[in-house]
Amino acid sequence: MNTDIETYLSNWQPQSVESTRSFPAEMYFDDRIYRLEQERIFGRQWLYAGHTSQLTEPGSYLTVEIAEQPLLIVRDLQNHLRGFFNVCTHRGGPVASGCGQSSHFTCLYHAWTFGLEGELKAAPYMQGAAGFDHQDYGLRPIRVETWGPLIFVNFDLQCEPLATQLGNLPEQYTRYNLSALKQVHSEHYEIDVNWKLYVENSSESYHVAMVHPALELFRTVNDLELNICQSTYSEYLPFLPHSDSIKYGFEPGLAIAGLNEKEMQGSEITLLYPNFAIVFSPTFVMARMISPCGVSKTQIRFDWMVPDTPEATAAENVAAVVSLYDRTVKEDLEMLKRVHVGVRSLHYTPGRLSPVLEIGTHHFQQLVMEQICS
Ligand code: FES
Ligand SMILES: [Fe+2]
Repeated sequence: MNTDIETYLSNWQPQSVESTRSFPAEMYFDDRIYRLEQERIFGRQWLYAGHTSQLTEPGSYLTVEIAEQPLLIVRDLQNHLRGFFNVCTHRGGPVASGCGQSSHFTCLYHAWTFGLEGELKAAPYMQGAAGFDHQDYGLRPIRVETWGPLIFVNFDLQCEPLATQLGNLPEQYTRYNLSALKQVHSEHYEIDVNWKLYVENSSESYHVAMVHPALELFRTVNDLELNICQSTYSEYLPFLPHSDSIKYGFEPGLAIAGLNEKEMQGSEITLLYPNFAIVFSPTFVMARMISPCGVSKTQIRFDWMVPDTPEATAAENVAAVVSLYDRTVKEDLEMLKRVHVGVRSLHYTPGRLSPVLEIGTHHFQQLVMEQICS
């Protein structure tokens, strides 16, 4: 069934999860929707970009691409984090690659050179260019703020502070003491589906019994605690009573110090829409960056943090934690490829949502519509 997407947008009204339908197919495939999302969602919201462990010294920098925007994040000589589009003001070349340490950035195309505050320092062979003033050609800045060691960026220089979008998350998760954890690993995934299918999948555990049978979640699905607040959605899941960690506790050095009883007996996933999810568990915290790179292509990066102890940072422990999730992620991605085909089919029609287990998916879809219709 084809939906006239213009009519859908102009008729859209907020609806409760009890009465709504999920998105029409065009929301996942129409280039105009993707362009609106880039401008009105990714162009205005705070986006997770990375971890400060890569930016410890003045002059350290990292590059990252989010929603097809190449970005450069730098620690300047005053120890402030700054961000720029990694797009040269000459003709769009990259001024930096990867990550590292430098006192300046020389564009890889024709060697214009920029300082750590984005100022154009040198532009060879430009003598004779009428009215050419170096001050007019600094790198285009973006906003950069942090939640502990987690770096967020915003392309809108007039945006509200990050704290507004985070709401009470820093307070709620204060005992995990993110700044004291060590970032030990990043894992990259790429999938040929629209970014919203991935975010929707991350916003519900309805699929878990079918897609991840090894997690044995369904026996406790009634114990899930679901919460919605502003741009966030969270699910707390207590461990099964017969799980090893409940019966025997954690090995010394593996658990995060200072957690309360509830935090020691379950894990929680929180999404901060549009591109960030974070999993809090007694033994690790995993931050997830979700980045659309085309209407039907999405990159995902998992950043793993564990307690800074010899036991937790040992290669075997890190590998064990990462591999457990790797399997789960691959199960999700395999299913999403098939869902993508289904949503594209001529006979797809938007379905109804579970008021019990899909309130996160509903909340996300409502936020997307509010933002692209604004
Ligand atoms: S594009 Fe950067 S110097 Fe030409
Ligand atoms: Fe899943």
